[in-house]
Amino acid sequence: MSNLTFSIPYIHHQVEDVPADVKTLCLSAKQATSLSYSPYSKFQVGASARLTDGKIIQAANMENAAYPQCLCAEAVLLGSLHSQYPGQQIEAVGIAVTTDRELKGVAAPCGSCRQQLFEAENRQGAPIKLYLLAAEGDVYEFADMKSLLPFGFVL
Ligand code: THU
Repeated sequence: MSNLTFSIPYIHHQVEDVPADVKTLCLSAKQATSLSYSPYSKFQVGASARLTDGKIIQAANMENAAYPQCLCAEAVLLGSLHSQYPGQQIEAVGIAVTTDRELKGVAAPCGSCRQQLFEAENRQGAPIKLYLLAAEGDVYEFADMKSLLPFGFVL
């Protein structure tokens, strides 16, 4: 028998201290919250991806009165990538949230979005860095998606 554990490495920054390309990505994610259609949760999630050619694409969550049909910002982002920029790879994703509620901690991708980003990373064969922009300008950096989803599902 072996007792094993996973730990998730991450770096905590302040947005004013990160390199210019990371700051641009985080601020783009923040700006993308304005694209959100979220009349039900009033929880605007913005996601931006920096592609290998340097382009930044934006997406936001899109809700529906039939709640299970709500789309997370990350899923909209990946759908947009595959249909609008086929063949392009993602270097990094930034995520930000705006809401009128007080957020407990940082808003991190849900399990389903982790699985989708994890598969995108496997598919492109190169890491997708993740930056979460929290309140007060804290930025949490993850080197790749596999570290954020131990035992991700693969077929
Ligand atoms: N949401 C995202 O956009 N990404 C996540 O990773 C988790 C949740 C959205 C879905 C819904 O529109 C709102 O946040 C509240 O759950």
